[in-house]
Parts: sequence; structure tokens; C-alpha cells
Amino acid sequence: MPRTNGTVVGTQVEDTRICVVMVGLPARGKSLIAGKIVRYLRWLSVDARTFNVGTYRRQDTPQPTADFFDTNNKEGERMRRAAAEAAVKDMLKWFSQEKGTVAILDATNSTQARRRWIAQTIGQFGIEVMFVESKCDDEDLIMSNIMEVKTTSPDYRGQDPELAAKDFRNRIRNYEKIYETITETDYTYVKLINVGTQVVINCIQDYLQSRIVYFLMNLHIKPRSIWLSRHGESMFNLAGKIGGDADLSPRGFRYSEALPEICRQAGIVPEQNITVWTSTMKRTIQTAQHLPYNKLQWKALDELDSGTCDGLTYEEIEEQFPEDFRARDDDKYNYRYRGGESYRDLVIRLEPIIMEMERQENVMVVTHQAVIRCIYAYFMNVPQDRSPWMEIPLHTVIKLTPKAYGTKEERFKANIPAVSTFRPKYSSAKHQDADSPDVNELSVKMNV
Ligand code: ATP
Ligand code: F6P
Repeated sequence: MPRTNGTVVGTQVEDTRICVVMVGLPARGKSLIAGKIVRYLRWLSVDARTFNVGTYRRQDTPQPTADFFDTNNKEGERMRRAAAEAAVKDMLKWFSQEKGTVAILDATNSTQARRRWIAQTIGQFGIEVMFVESKCDDEDLIMSNIMEVKTTSPDYRGQDPELAAKDFRNRIRNYEKIYETITETDYTYVKLINVGTQVVINCIQDYLQSRIVYFLMNLHIKPRSIWLSRHGESMFNLAGKIGGDADLSPRGFRYSEALPEICRQAGIVPEQNITVWTSTMKRTIQTAQHLPYNKLQWKALDELDSGTCDGLTYEEIEEQFPEDFRARDDDKYNYRYRGGESYRDLVIRLEPIIMEMERQENVMVVTHQAVIRCIYAYFMNVPQDRSPWMEIPLHTVIKLTPKAYGTKEERFKANIPAVSTFRPKYSSAKHQDADSPDVNELSVKMNV
């Protein structure tokens, strides 16, 4: 389906332009929240971008000490205002020249005067302004935030972490002297208090704003992982056919028997009280059958619907529907099978799954190739031109662990051969046995 700027499939947000203005003392998770909003919106095809005032300030003042942020420091004040103005200027340019939809202004924006200036400067262009304030008075959490992300920030590169933490606390004190929580009732705002323990919402105006609010309400920062596995090799995989509701192959059943042990190696232990989600298709239910955990079937996790091509091999599709075959490879994300779905449709179907995954702690998901590609793309920030072409092999557990500014990925490969169902662009090659390792294999990488 063709899209214009700012169109969410099934929902028109074409005329909406929003500036999300972060508000909060340092080390309250503003940058992390901003990054998550951008990733979520981009996944939904909404053009979104963060403008971080700290990045602009660093061009002139790369490593300031706490007194730079003292309001009695006039030169510091002037330079900070200049950094904010430069960020807002670039943001307005982005809205007008690149037709952006949602910009996030990431700074402390801690006084009413600063917020008034932002609301007036941006509002005059018909851009909606929505404030998102993060308030937190949990001293232990703030200290651990400082140690986790601030002592390694570019502001303190090469410095002693203890001294960096001390200076950062003094920076926070300087901000506390002038900080004013949002009380401006004529503004659109969301206040997240102590990581969403309490949420205050004021004057939400439209659909896109309400999606952002709902997303923010589901976020948490408890340590957790998400485990993803495709179903074991199916009889349709062996025959090279797509879609269908086939049983597992004998090797697929072996994978289902091995899965509890692979999950144990991947860090799932019974005390974790994990829930296993499957689709409603036989092959995922059979794959999860020996996992000793609560299970939940989701229709939304069913494989991409290939419509009239369901049950055919890629060769047969190329023979019977050559134009469709070509069109799909030209733009795989947007191509919708006759009577079926596109990757774009699938992402919309998976949105409630992502929302629930954000809310949950540990979850294991046993599902299908295209579905895992979309879920993986969300967590790992993979763009739409690449996500439908990612290799997600059979008989492999992918463990994703969200960290402060990225997601850690580990792969645990079972020692059970399976065909590769990956088809490179413009090829109709038959499914063949993939290389199989002699021992269970582990690989680790991190996206930031
Ligand atoms: P600064 O003003 O210095 O840029 P910041 O408010 O942008 O700070 P981040 O850099 O995003 O703070 O801090 C990230 C840390 O905050 C992470 O360790 C993350 O776990 C934690 N965090 C995330 N959300 C919240 C929240 N709502 N309240 C408090 N801490 C949070
Ligand atoms: O203190 C954290 C920080 O992100 C700085 O890096 C940045 O210069 C500042 O906040 C921006 O906020 P403000 O415009 O309120 O000074």
C-alpha cells in the first residue's frame, strides 16, 4: 500500500505534526523515553526524530562541570539558551523541509519560562506541543542511573567515575534550585511519576498523541529478557511450500523436545514465572508443547497471510504470478499478497503484541519467520527496507535483553539440522539444508 508522509496504515495522521517536549531533572530517563518513542513511531511508519539539546551544547562546551549549569553563571545560561535555540531551529527546518511528523525536544526544559518560549516558538507554526515530564524521587534509582549511563557519557569521557558521579549530583542540585514541575493546565502534558507508578494526563488532543500516551503508560525499566523462536521445521518447510497449517517434520519434533534445555541454556529458569506465547497454528503449538510454562495462543502471532499463494512453493509463485513475484521483491515491505497481507499490514496486526511485550517482564514467543522479523525489527531498530530480508533461521532461540540505550542480542542455535527458508531477493531457489553446527552455538551482539 502506498503511503504518504505521516500515514499510519488504517489511521490517518496526515495533517498532524507534534513536538514532544521532554521535561525533567537530569538522570530521570528522558533520553531513554525519547529514544523509545522514536523507535515505536518509526516502526509504525511515522517519521520521528529526536533533537537532543545536550548534543548541541556539547559542540561548544564538551565537558562542562556542574557550575556551568548554575543559573548564576550568566555565560553558562547564555550558551545553554543558544543550544536550545539551535535545536529548535533545526527542528522547525526538519518539519518544513523534510515533512517530519513527530519531533522530540530532549532537554530538561525545567522552568515555566523555557516551556512558554517553546510553546510559543513552535506553536505559531501549527505544530502541536505535548510535554512529557518524568519525575522521580527514588534516590537509589537516580544514583544507579548516574552510575549506569552518566559516568560513561561524553560529558565525562576519560574522567574518574567517582568524581564524575559527584559532579553530576551537583549538576542535578543546580537544576533543582530552579526546577518547576508542570502546572500549566492549558498545556497538553503527560506526567510520569516514579517510572509510571502514577501517570497524570492533561488535554490530550488527537489519535497520535493518545497512542504516545498509551505507549508511555506501558513502559517499565525492570530488568527482563524476551526470547524468540520460530517453530521447529515443518512438513511445509521441507516441501518448500509457504503458509499452510502443517505439522512439524521429524526434525521439527526433535527441536521441540530439545527446546526446554536450549531455553535453560538461554537463561530461562522455572522460577522466572515466564509465559510462552504461540500463534494459533499447529507448528508453533507443537514446538512449545514440552516447555513447562504457562502458554497463551495469540491469533495476532499467526504467520503473514500469503492469500492466493498459500500452499505454493516460491517456484510455483514465480510461474503462476510472475508480476507479483517481481513486485514483491521490488518492495517486499509494502507488497500485499492477493487476498493476503503485506509486512506493513503485519506490523499493524502486531502493534498490540508489542504493547503487551513492553508491559510484560520475561516472555518467550514461539512464532513464524515474518512475525519474528517484525518483532525483531522493533526491538533492534531495523529499517523497513531491510527487515523483510533478515535471516531468522529455524532451530535457533534469539534472546533480546533491553538495556539503557539499546538491546543486547544473543542467539542459541540447536544442534538439529533444518532447511533454510531464507530466499534471497529475485531468487526462487528451493529450500535446502542449512549448515548445521556440531554443537549448540552462541553468538552475542548489541545494537545501540
Ligand atoms: P539528562 O538530563 O542528563 O540527559 P535523562 O533524564 O535524559 O538525563 P537518561 O540518560 O535517559 O536520563 O537516563 C537513563 C537512565 O534512566 C536509565 O538507566 C534508565 O533505566 C532510567 N530511567 C528510564 N526511565 C526512567 C524513569 N521514568 N524515571 C527514572 N529513571 C528512568
Ligand atoms: O543536564 C543534562 C542535559 O541534557 C545537558 O546535557 C544539556 O545541556 C541540558 O540538559 C539541556 O537542558 P537545558 O536546556 O534545560 O539546559
